[in-house]
Amino acid sequence: MVFSNEKKISINLEKIAFFLNRFLLLLMVGAVIAGFFWNNKWYWLAGFTLILNLFNVYYLYIQKQHALLANFGILALFRYLVESIGPEFRQYLYSSDTEEKPFNRIERADVYKKAKNKEKSSAFGSLLDFDEAALKLKHSFYPVDKKKLQTFRVCFGEERHLKQTYTINKAIIIGGMSYGALGKKAIRALSRGAKKAGIPLNTGEGGYPKYHLMDGADLIFQIGTAKFGVRNEDGSFNPDLLEKISRHEQIKMIELKFSQGAKPGKGGLLPKEKITEEIAELRGIPLGKDVISPAGHKECVSAESTVRFIKKIQEISYLPVGIKFCLGSTREMGEMFIEMKKQNIYPDYIAIDGSEGGTGAAPKTFMDDLGYPLFPALEKIIEIIKEHAVENKFKIITSGKLISAGKQMMALCMGASAIYTARGFMLALGCIQALRCNNNTCPVGITTHSEKLQRGLDIEEKSERVKNYALNLDYHHYEMLAAMGKTKFSDLTRNNLIFP
Ligand SMILES: Cc1cc2nc3c(=O)[nH]c(=O)nc-3n(C[C@H](O)[C@H](O)[C@H](O)COP(=O)(O)O)c2cc1C
Repeated sequence: MVFSNEKKISINLEKIAFFLNRFLLLLMVGAVIAGFFWNNKWYWLAGFTLILNLFNVYYLYIQKQHALLANFGILALFRYLVESIGPEFRQYLYSSDTEEKPFNRIERADVYKKAKNKEKSSAFGSLLDFDEAALKLKHSFYPVDKKKLQTFRVCFGEERHLKQTYTINKAIIIGGMSYGALGKKAIRALSRGAKKAGIPLNTGEGGYPKYHLMDGADLIFQIGTAKFGVRNEDGSFNPDLLEKISRHEQIKMIELKFSQGAKPGKGGLLPKEKITEEIAELRGIPLGKDVISPAGHKECVSAESTVRFIKKIQEISYLPVGIKFCLGSTREMGEMFIEMKKQNIYPDYIAIDGSEGGTGAAPKTFMDDLGYPLFPALEKIIEIIKEHAVENKFKIITSGKLISAGKQMMALCMGASAIYTARGFMLALGCIQALRCNNNTCPVGITTHSEKLQRGLDIEEKSERVKNYALNLDYHHYEMLAAMGKTKFSDLTRNNLIFP
């Protein structure tokens, strides 16, 4: 509706700058005169205004980088200041509960409540927009008695009849986050929480998992394209180092990472601000330079060489070996399955990361514009798996904003065997979504190496939250399973979903 006499509120920067700049000059002259004739304390004000006027001269007549400063002088600084604190203003004052991204306030609050064990019933009705088309779970007319529910169980490596299989009894796994992207206290709180909850933790691609190992959790050791932790000085793969890591009793599976939803087709980036001496040592990299991992594994340039490399990792580690990627070309995926059949080599799981996935640092366009989002990816991959008759050859783990129990159940219905969540557990640690993971200034001490900023992160306290979040998710999985009329998680299928 437009009101004819509605007036748009606007600020006339030009006029304000005109008066402010002259006022500053006059104030300086006035202060000098007052200091000379009246009281020399006025010289303090004269000195202060002199500094402001010098800045003004620099902004208005010397610097050429910022048009706004050149046009309006010191006044424009306020705009930069307001702009820099804009996200905080919007987050705390203006944004509605369903507005913020990547996770809105309702989604974050759900994690916080689970993490603090403060979840109770909600009243009056859902706050979500029910006019929007959205996937839902189908409940049954005949909910199952909870005593009849069977325990969740997924065994990795059983397809290859491995001696050393790995079984999980909860659907959730903490997604890969390296020491480097995260600070040591956050890693230790995750690891201790994982141990308490009885779930595994993926190490991310950060090299030897010194801090992940400290609190006793089961680990999935990830090998990224830079081979941190298992590389020679020239960046090539060192099988002896992998063999050594694989023999550690906490390392339960190995994951070869090909790509990540937030930056498919692009290597990882660790900004130099986040490279401490210790990180440089654990990864085998120099200090003082951004570290950019190669976009792909040197050893894998075709379906044939990729499958051969998977076999090599399986032979060295004796452990279940998975591959992580974001789905892109479906033709290439089909070719990979054909090659796996040909060589009779299959990974023990594939981990599909939706393009909505998170990262410590990545170029914006890679986050926004590349790769299949999670649910379409799952739909597609199941189609290709069926087409090539490779069902029952490997498990599927999946990730991409699956931070609520409901969304996780949907992914299980779509064919996933287990769920990775990375940012869900960051929120459980106390992440406030400040979106500063890439510049070492995380205000809650999670994605930073600053001792000062990590001071507030208490490992024991946060590990309890990690545990609570995991156990509450697990509790809700069973609740929903019963409501859906099923006794086993393995009975969940696409038929248990309501498609928009
Ligand atoms: C801070 C941060 C660091 C990450 N580091 C890695 C990594 O080292 N290796 C990897 O495969 N994925 C990494 N990821 C991606 C996550 O493992 C996960 O695939 C993605 O965030 C999707 O899951 P989510 O939506 O539950 O966060 C990272 C994500 C974040 C937020």
